[in-house]
Amino acid sequence: MMVALKRRAVITAIGAGLVGAAALAVRPRNKGAPHSEYFARASKALRAAGIATPALIIDRERLLANANKVVSNVAGRLPVRLVAKSLPCLPLIDQLMQAMQTRRLMVFNLPYLQELAAQRGDVDLLLGKPLPVAVAAEFYRSLKGGQFQPGRQLQWLVDTPQRLAQYRDLARGQQLDMRVSLEIDVGLHRGGIDSPQVMQQMLDILKSEPRLQWAGMMGYDAHVSKLPLASLREKALVDAKAIYHDYAAQATQALRPGGGAEGLVFNAGGSPTYLLHDGSGTANEVALGSALVKPSDFDTEGLKDLAPAAYIATPVLKAGRHFQMPRGVEALGDAVRAWDVNQEQVYFIYGGNWMADAVSPVGLAPSGLYGNSSNQQALLGSGAQQLLVDDFVFFRPRQSESVLQQFGDIVVMEGGNVTERWPVMPPMP
Ligand SMILES: Cc1ncc(COP(=O)(O)O)c(C=O)c1O
Repeated sequence: MMVALKRRAVITAIGAGLVGAAALAVRPRNKGAPHSEYFARASKALRAAGIATPALIIDRERLLANANKVVSNVAGRLPVRLVAKSLPCLPLIDQLMQAMQTRRLMVFNLPYLQELAAQRGDVDLLLGKPLPVAVAAEFYRSLKGGQFQPGRQLQWLVDTPQRLAQYRDLARGQQLDMRVSLEIDVGLHRGGIDSPQVMQQMLDILKSEPRLQWAGMMGYDAHVSKLPLASLREKALVDAKAIYHDYAAQATQALRPGGGAEGLVFNAGGSPTYLLHDGSGTANEVALGSALVKPSDFDTEGLKDLAPAAYIATPVLKAGRHFQMPRGVEALGDAVRAWDVNQEQVYFIYGGNWMADAVSPVGLAPSGLYGNSSNQQALLGSGAQQLLVDDFVFFRPRQSESVLQQFGDIVVMEGGNVTERWPVMPPMP
């Protein structure tokens, strides 16, 4: 009896020891560390500039290095069209147009269209989505003369015969000369012309209306980079290029009999796919925006040579506190702290809940249990971050579209200093 009992006790002890060892092995390690030199320097610059509220920062050196990199990758084979919605700030667009030697912009809404036409009279604009005809009418109503000539510098995007007929009626009614680009579906399935029959109906409308001038096509191919297998990506790219080729041939034959594609814009690509076009296919320009500031959704193999150039910086309001769950469930917080050293401390920051993730100091994350807040977001960490009240936490946006517009003027940093403030475009749909 004695012996049996002892053996059971030994087995139990060994079992408990094993469970303990296993628990220790999987128990989260301390992931925290203080700011790297880059972010320590940025913090210093923000403090010196008297910034103490959430701010969107652009690192001008990285921005320009990205622009130069894209230019050298494209190597003059294709012109680049900057995607304005992903870079919603006039001085930012100015910098990039200058660095990349392009005046081509892709626009997605009426306010930017009006702003660009009024403020930058020499740009070449292509709509990136088809707008209701009433919006086009409003654009012409609001146009105040000036250098910008829509009949030469603007291409409306049209996706269906019905919309094309509406644009035709507007052109006739207002005696406008309008240039139209045809949105084609090259595989993304986000709308656009998806059969030669539909294309033919649209070509017939274009052919019969002298007020409408065919300016080219837009075939966005973002899906190509998102497919899970290399073989699927390769096939989707081949298909997209073939579809583009066929529609372009059909339209050119119908509308330019005997003539070439002179002056036509065949737009393709976006940040994740700009490298897949080299001028040898039908596409004769590529669009690109987000990659130039490289939010984290653009951490792809093809964009590896570009660096993040936009961050959100926000001050810590409350530090030096153990993480606690609210009264009533405090035990939950105690358990979490006992288990995970990375949930030991809580920092409450100024603002939060953005489309962005904390990146410096490292090892900060929202609690899975304590709610998120746009007012004072809780971030948990081990304490190795060494954050004090009024120190900064830096977030990396997941996308630039819309996020860049949530913080007032953009804070431009260069050489470890805040050098400029750039007003953003008003956040408009
Ligand atoms: C028509 C079109 N082209 C290109 C882009 C690429 O923009 P980005 O380079 O910012 O991803 C977009 C983005 O939505 C788009 O809608």
